[in-house]
Amino acid sequence: MKHLLKLSDLSREEILSLLNLADQLKYEKKNGIDQSGYLKGKSLGMIFQKSSTRTRVSFEVGMFDLGGQPLFLSSRDLQIGRGEPVQDTARVLSRMLSGIMIRTFEQKEVEDLAKYGSIPVINGLTDYCHPCQVLADLMTIREHKGSFRGLKLCFIGDGNNMANSLMVGAVKMGMKFAIACPQGYEPDAALMEWAKQEGDFFITEDPVEAAKDADVIYTDVWASMGQEEEKAAREKVFKNFCVNEVVMNAAKKDAMVLHCLPAHRGEEITEEVFEAHANEIFDEAENRLHAQKAVLVKLLK
Ligand code: CP
Ligand code: NVA
Repeated sequence: MKHLLKLSDLSREEILSLLNLADQLKYEKKNGIDQSGYLKGKSLGMIFQKSSTRTRVSFEVGMFDLGGQPLFLSSRDLQIGRGEPVQDTARVLSRMLSGIMIRTFEQKEVEDLAKYGSIPVINGLTDYCHPCQVLADLMTIREHKGSFRGLKLCFIGDGNNMANSLMVGAVKMGMKFAIACPQGYEPDAALMEWAKQEGDFFITEDPVEAAKDADVIYTDVWASMGQEEEKAAREKVFKNFCVNEVVMNAAKKDAMVLHCLPAHRGEEITEEVFEAHANEIFDEAENRLHAQKAVLVKLLK
């Protein structure tokens, strides 16, 4: 594993190895075991073209925990924001840093950084996918359910970056994957084709049908970062795509609820469902730290 550009680049074994390492790093941190030897002398540049709370803090604290140095690089301040080509940025940063984490719009920009640079590149979210989040999600599912065997994961909402990565993660781990989304808002067509071939994949426009007997219910915002102008139109299209009591009644009694956050209560999830499952959702948020540290150790050590 040289980069983390998208989850579909990783084998099932590579994902499991990251999850096992994340569990170990979580155990070490909870038990006060010094982790500062892992990445001593290493540096991570973190380029953000979009806002972030969890991704920024998990990578920044993660680097500190592991004895390395994080650099927060807002695109507002970088020359990349003024049009310096990715090819040049990649080659410059490769001469000074040990690795790059980038959150941006186009997947191609992340792939180009890896192509032209000579250090590991980590995708901290693009319009296409969010592999770092899904590693934390899988870690949380395994923590709560014990294993992935026989589980059904249901995603309700926009076929966006989260849906794309979750679909890949679920299929690779052998979980059933069902998605309910409005027509015209399906996940990536090529990924859906792959999921149909490789796994147990189901798509519908009916959230209750998708949620039937699910072990995990997952949702995300109706309008992602960069889609602010579509917000009002999307509120109309997505108004029935809400994780509420009716959806939860269709799922298994002990179903867990996950949300990558930030959440919009009253839109994709009700206040009641969110608060009833807050423990799982905030375990998931915490696991960003441990899962991202596993990625850092694998790529930079
Ligand atoms: N879930 C997630 O990536 O959160 P941030 O946008 O706060 O980083
Ligand atoms: N789909 C959301 C995920 C945020 C973590 C977005 O891209 O804004």
